[in-house]
Amino acid sequence: MELIATCAFGLEKLVYDELKQLGLWVIKKEDGRVIFEGDELALVRANLWLRCADRVQIKVGEFKALSFDELFDQVNALPWEKYIGVNDAFPVDAVSVKSTLHSEPAIQSIVKKSIVKRLQQQHNSEILSENSGAQYQVMVKSNKDEFIVTIDSSGDSLHKRGYRTKTNEAPMKETLAAALVKLSEWTPDRTLIDPFCGSGTILIEAALMAHNIAPGLARTFTFQKWPWIDQTLIEKAYTEARDAQTPEVKLRLYGFDIDSEVLTIAGKNAGNAGFKNINFQRSDFTDLDFSKFENATFITNPPYGERLEELAYVEKMYRELGKKFKESQGSSLFIITSHENFQHLFGRLADKNRKLFNGGLKCYLFSYLAK
Ligand SMILES: C[S@@+](CC[C@H](N)C(=O)[O-])C[C@H]1O[C@@H](n2cnc3c(N)ncnc32)[C@H](O)[C@@H]1O
Repeated sequence: MELIATCAFGLEKLVYDELKQLGLWVIKKEDGRVIFEGDELALVRANLWLRCADRVQIKVGEFKALSFDELFDQVNALPWEKYIGVNDAFPVDAVSVKSTLHSEPAIQSIVKKSIVKRLQQQHNSEILSENSGAQYQVMVKSNKDEFIVTIDSSGDSLHKRGYRTKTNEAPMKETLAAALVKLSEWTPDRTLIDPFCGSGTILIEAALMAHNIAPGLARTFTFQKWPWIDQTLIEKAYTEARDAQTPEVKLRLYGFDIDSEVLTIAGKNAGNAGFKNINFQRSDFTDLDFSKFENATFITNPPYGERLEELAYVEKMYRELGKKFKESQGSSLFIITSHENFQHLFGRLADKNRKLFNGGLKCYLFSYLAK
């Protein structure tokens, strides 16, 4: 099967590396997705293990279509019956970008009709009740008249690990938090500090990685109800994942935030993920003694000042942070913000600067490596 791991723009290389690490055959990466080859076990493993991807999809077909007749015929020629049984649900979603066929509701309706016709013929049944309990979410995407048609195997987006039951105002997606930890090249022997930790996502993702815990182990997936995926394969992947955990890792993880309510949420989230050893403490970052943190890694997602009334506060904060960070000997800092002038305010040019998207907002990850 050809499979697709979708992800936020900027994370493709990380997802590519994750798939390689899983021993999978990666075909290519494109904007927002990585295409790979694999069997049912690969599909299950990718869902369980990918930390930076949003979804795992089965690629059913790819074609060009300029008219609704062409779209109907192309979709009708695809082997839907391989996946979708006579009573399974198959809702259709469509996105069209810069294409001749631009009406998404119309694309959706034509694709649905075309799949219905194919399934009626192939299953030799006029009635498709869609009530078996198994769901095959069909996704149609067209870009400049090139269509790609997929079935989603994940269900909820993969950033929903299951540990975050409550959030603060501006939580970071778990997938992006995991990406920041990977990009920092943090290793579990180093102290990790998030001085603006909010609900603790960055630290929890770091702990999951350090303990080699598959991020999807505590949640459910759509594929679990698909009868053509052998239950013993699913069990095999889960057993492998449970056996791969390394519980005995000593970690030094510290989260600070000015807001005590958000720290209560952080503590709960960490507890849900099985971590009691992340140190969350209420503190304004200006009161922290940075000289106490030597050879540490700071990874953080501070306020960005997107709201005008916050801007002056945030700019002052970035200036102050630049001064304070100098006190921490041998430490590195990875900070994400949408503020275009961050480096100037911080008072030092970053060693690396990478464009990333946080919930659709263009941001930069500024990396300051230890001197
Ligand atoms: C963008 S949120 C961080 C979200 C976090 N990454 C998460 O996943 O939940 C920024 C955090 O900075 C905190 N904050 C604002 N001013 C602060 C200050 N002076 N010192 C410490 N924390 C502060 C806010 O309370 C907020 O939780």
